[in-house]
Amino acid sequence: MNLNLNLNRTLLMLALVMFASGVGVIAFSQRPWAPRYDIEQPIPFSHRIHAGVNKIPCQYCHEYARRSQTSGVPPVQRCVGCHGSQKSGGLLAVTRPWTDHKQSNFEIRWNRVYTLPDFVRYTHRPHINAGIACQTCHGPVETMERVRPVHEINMGFCLDCHAKRGVTQDCFACHH
Ligand code: HEC
Ligand code: HEC
Ligand code: HEC
Ligand code: HEC
Ligand code: HEC
Repeated sequence: MNLNLNLNRTLLMLALVMFASGVGVIAFSQRPWAPRYDIEQPIPFSHRIHAGVNKIPCQYCHEYARRSQTSGVPPVQRCVGCHGSQKSGGLLAVTRPWTDHKQSNFEIRWNRVYTLPDFVRYTHRPHINAGIACQTCHGPVETMERVRPVHEINMGFCLDCHAKRGVTQDCFACHH
């Protein structure tokens, strides 16, 4: 199982390198994993109001800012802490489902803005531990009504900083 996976990855890397040096340039220029500018969310969640005006720290909600669909964005539980009571007026769109006992538990299905292809290895941890601000990669999120990418996150973006800071540029540090 593991062996097979490793073999697949090795083949994938080889294929990619070949692709990059020729035919694939056109195919890859589509880059389906590029950050999205056109994402609509099921709830009009505002970072400006939460992280900006109300100064809630990024990591209060993004407790595990690392690769995973569910650990990256906060669970509904996080919202309930502040929005669970009926007292807060204009928040009906958010509170109604949780206070309606006939409705089963649910998680909000947020759509992703940032993605990387499967052949890239990226984790937040070493970056956050090295003291790099969220904004370096994601822009001034605390001013955004809706999350919009500011930087095109591609290989060049990663390598530029790694070169400047003397961090590894080994292909296999970032590619499986
Ligand atoms: C630490 C407290 C806190 C947490 C956690 C929190 N909020 Fe809020 N939220 C607020 C405050 C404060 C406001 C501003 C209320 C106002 O201005 O009337 C707000 C406003 C809102 C609004 C209305 C914004 C608008 O455009 O008027 C929505 C929608 C909302 N929050 C959704 C969420 C969701 C979804 C979550 C969980 C991912 C969440 N909130 C987590 C405190 C919080
Ligand atoms: C109150 C909770 C809360 C706080 C505080 C918060 N976020 Fe978020 N964040 C969310 C929620 C919910 C989403 C998913 C919905 C969306 O994209 O707006 C999200 C999405 C994101 C995304 C897009 C993820 C993706 O690829 O889809 C980024 C980047 C992000 N947050 C960065 C930040 C940064 C940087 C800060 C601090 C300046 C911050 N967040 C503070 C709740 C929060
Ligand atoms: C060095 C650049 C960099 C820094 C610094 C950074 N991020 Fe990210 N972030 C990314 C990349 C790249 C992705 C896409 C990851 C993927 O698809 O695997 C991402 C994805 C996310 C997501 C989507 C869910 C997930 O975990 O994949 C959230 C939320 C997020 N970042 C929040 C933050 C917050 C909050 C901080 C600061 C505490 C932060 N990021 C710092 C590059 C960065
Ligand atoms: C703004 C600078 C910056 C950017 C942008 C950046 N990195 Fe890093 N990266 C670092 C630093 C600093 C470290 C920590 C090195 C350490 O812990 O010694 C690191 C560590 C890493 C590591 C762990 C390396 C190891 O030796 O274990 C990987 C993997 C990595 N980055 C991948 C990426 C990827 C993929 C991207 C682009 C999506 C990216 N980085 C973008 C600065 C950056
Ligand atoms: C610091 C992290 C990092 C290192 C080191 C790195 N890459 Fe990448 N690479 C990425 C990221 C992120 C992507 C996906 C984003 C993009 O399309 O540029 C990528 C994409 C690619 C692609 C897909 C084609 C393309 O350009 O979109 C190929 C092929 C590739 N890398 C080969 C290599 C080779 C060969 C090396 C070693 C010389 C290397 N990479 C080193 C981060 C890295």
